[in-house]
Amino acid sequence: MTYARIKGTGSYLPERVMTNTELEGLVDTSDRWIQERTGIRERRIAADDQTCRDLAMIAASRALDAAGLQPTDIDLVVLGTCTPDRIFPSTACLIQAGLGIHPGAVAFDVSAACSGFVFALDVANRFIRTGGARTALVIGAETMSRIIDWNDRGTCVLFGDGAGAVVLEAADEAGILSTHLHADGGCEDLLNVPWGVSQGQDALQGSQAKLKMRGNEVFKVAVRTLGRIVDETLDANGLEKADVDWLIPHQANIRIIQATAKKLGLPMEQVVQTVGEHGNTSAASIPLALDTAVRDGRIQPGELLLLEAFGGGFTWGSALIRY
Ligand code: UT7
Repeated sequence: MTYARIKGTGSYLPERVMTNTELEGLVDTSDRWIQERTGIRERRIAADDQTCRDLAMIAASRALDAAGLQPTDIDLVVLGTCTPDRIFPSTACLIQAGLGIHPGAVAFDVSAACSGFVFALDVANRFIRTGGARTALVIGAETMSRIIDWNDRGTCVLFGDGAGAVVLEAADEAGILSTHLHADGGCEDLLNVPWGVSQGQDALQGSQAKLKMRGNEVFKVAVRTLGRIVDETLDANGLEKADVDWLIPHQANIRIIQATAKKLGLPMEQVVQTVGEHGNTSAASIPLALDTAVRDGRIQPGELLLLEAFGGGFTWGSALIRY
């Protein structure tokens, strides 16, 4: 049996810090409200000349360094993003060329909003398990600041830019134990960006290409859904809640994270929390959190990691990983 193992992790946050206090100057909000309701203290904003590819390439290079591999060792690039550089080529193809990954490797984007990294990880895992690739670069990268309505206090305080990546390698021992993906397109009105190219350029006016969210309704569905996927993931592996060493959740809101930890009976010391430092970076948030806890030495080889995400679509998913 061939498994996919994490060989290296990397991440990148743009230099520009936007604090809650700065947002107080843009919309009717307060540092106190943002911290109490979301746990977010600050977020990063990509420079004007930085795109999704640029963020992703730095995170990917760091993951390759950590893995001790060269770009030419990579067979497959899968990027989760909802803020790509262009309509096409895919940003994964741009990253392939930018990093010098050999022509002929496979590279493509997956679109699952905040669940993008978990969806990308699932796809890469299947490639490796079925012999379609030996070494994969799986990335979550976003420039959410480009689709934020900076006049909408219900959303602009929540999101930020960033990128995270993992290098996966085929191995005889697990590795990724299982992945679980789901979607429900019936709730698209609760969280979306209402414009896309197929509607034509004439439909693109003002704020139409900006993120819209009915936050409180999304919150309730997210808490319910993430509670269910925790059970689904553990049941599929015949494991107990107490077996999980680290919860690495999508970083959208500290209260959603706390609710999932409670469902697992896991103390917050075993939950990787980075939402305070970078807000909701959509598909980048899980690999950013994972890389943080790997690099500061909290996550150790052999430990059991539960990754879970929820986002626009709705989409949601999880991965159980023996690190
Ligand atoms: O990653 C994809 C999935 N996304 C999420 O998981 C996000 C899920 N949603 C959330 O995180 C939360 O719902 C929010 C943080 C967006 C909002 O928190 P909430 O506790 O659900 O607040 P609410 O929407 O029920 O609003 C409560 C009050 C309202 O005022 P009134 O009607 O009670 O007078 C809002 O207008 O808070 C007000 N409010 C704000 N006040 C200050 C909303 N945004 C702000 C703000 N600053 N930025």
